[in-house]
Amino acid sequence: MQYRKAITASIIVLGMTTAATGQKASEAAMASLIIDTDLGTETISRHIYGHFSEHLGRCIYGGFWVGENSAIPNTRGIRDDIVEALKRTQIPNLRWPGGCFADEYHWMDGIGPREKRPKMINTHWGGVTEDNSFGTHEFLDLCEQLGAEPYICGNVGSGSVEEMSKWVEYVNVEGVSPMADLRRSNGREKAWNVKYWGVGNENWGCGGNMTADFYADQYRRYATYTRDYGDNRLLKVAGGANSTDYNWTETLMKKIPHWMMWGISLHYYTTNWNKKGSATQFGEKEYFETVERCLNVEKALDRHINVMDRYDPDRRVALVVDEWGTWWDVEPGTNPGFLYQQNSMRDAIVAGLSLNYFNERCGRIRMANIAQTVNVLQSLILTDGEKMILTPTYHVFEMYKAHHDATLLPLHMHCGNYSLDGHDVPALSASASRDKNGKVNITIVNVDPVRETEILVDLRGGEYDSVTGRVLRGDAVNAHNTFEKSDTVKPEPFRGARIRNNILSLSVAPASVTVLTVE
Ligand code: AHR
Repeated sequence: MQYRKAITASIIVLGMTTAATGQKASEAAMASLIIDTDLGTETISRHIYGHFSEHLGRCIYGGFWVGENSAIPNTRGIRDDIVEALKRTQIPNLRWPGGCFADEYHWMDGIGPREKRPKMINTHWGGVTEDNSFGTHEFLDLCEQLGAEPYICGNVGSGSVEEMSKWVEYVNVEGVSPMADLRRSNGREKAWNVKYWGVGNENWGCGGNMTADFYADQYRRYATYTRDYGDNRLLKVAGGANSTDYNWTETLMKKIPHWMMWGISLHYYTTNWNKKGSATQFGEKEYFETVERCLNVEKALDRHINVMDRYDPDRRVALVVDEWGTWWDVEPGTNPGFLYQQNSMRDAIVAGLSLNYFNERCGRIRMANIAQTVNVLQSLILTDGEKMILTPTYHVFEMYKAHHDATLLPLHMHCGNYSLDGHDVPALSASASRDKNGKVNITIVNVDPVRETEILVDLRGGEYDSVTGRVLRGDAVNAHNTFEKSDTVKPEPFRGARIRNNILSLSVAPASVTVLTVE
């Protein structure tokens, strides 16, 4: 649990060093952190660092999938550069095929010889032709290449219980069965043993416009016939609420027994639906509002968790934030149905804050999936033909991998505010964990776009004498990478931290994301 509260006396008397930055302390804001490095009981699941890829715009086609005959280097049609880049983040899981697309998708259209697969219209996303060349085998090959767990979302809105049940049988039965035989006839001998299954997507909206009561009953039917095969225990995720719809969460918690579901999802985008605005052309007001909206998401997480705690005090059911991130206007001149947006330091700040919030609530949040991995919404990767760039958001995921499966540490923080037009937000957000080798990793986001903050970190419960780190920052909050200049925003070594007598002193730059490792 993280506390934002008063500085303890012991830390004040140490005073603030200026050696780390060479600047006068009076120019910077001040903050203090206490981290109990020997405490902590909860694990930050690496699945909090998960991803989402939908048949939408250029996420799959032109993103992950270029086809075997492409001049772009690929392995069985899957782009090598994207796979390599995501492996560097240790991508833990990938959700597919939607999103809204999932409740229109009939998986049997996406198996067998590609030239024989039926074509359909992707009605949600631009009305384009979907030729089904990327289907179950291709997706699971992608996951194997990435070393990521697949998370498949079934069709509840327009599909049937039988269809979803057969999909599970197709991918998970090792022995003889009609669907396993069909899989083998399509060239895959071994079962994939997919664990994570979503039972529909946004069933309050594009997934069927259902009421919570109706969906809860549907869930029970679908979940009954999606079976465990062999030792593979399915982890089923009920299609959860939109943003602040606490009644949806409550109804599902009330009507679905905990043993029938591993998790309940939540979709919450950090956006102003009335005026999304440009991804790169924005002023400080829009920047500040985005940070405020992150805090609204944080509050909503707690409110959903409170509802879940009422019905499940032992926290058996996970909260799965399987769509989150920024949603800006599409880039000028691109298909409005493709949701292609640029990605700036502001997006990196949103990613850093959100991941810190998820870490802090890892006792309940055991999976999250940013929307979406490539070329759609808050992407990690953008492509243009054979070119590929990494976004500031990518770098945050790569830096935060230090928290994967580590123990969340109690962290007490005192910091000042970043203020604009009479509104205040905390200037800093931080998260700390202890990895299996005993190293302590700390991620710090400074949202203030102007002031650096000098921080003293009191590392209690251990002996620490070395610190290394990296920082992600830009010249401005709208700094971003382009196909012409792909390295404008990238992590740099952080040399400004000192450690003495278990007190770490450092100065974090304006609008920056920093990761530190102490040992
Ligand atoms: O991520 C884009 C869309 O946003 C998804 O398809 C849907 O689930 C959500 O509304």
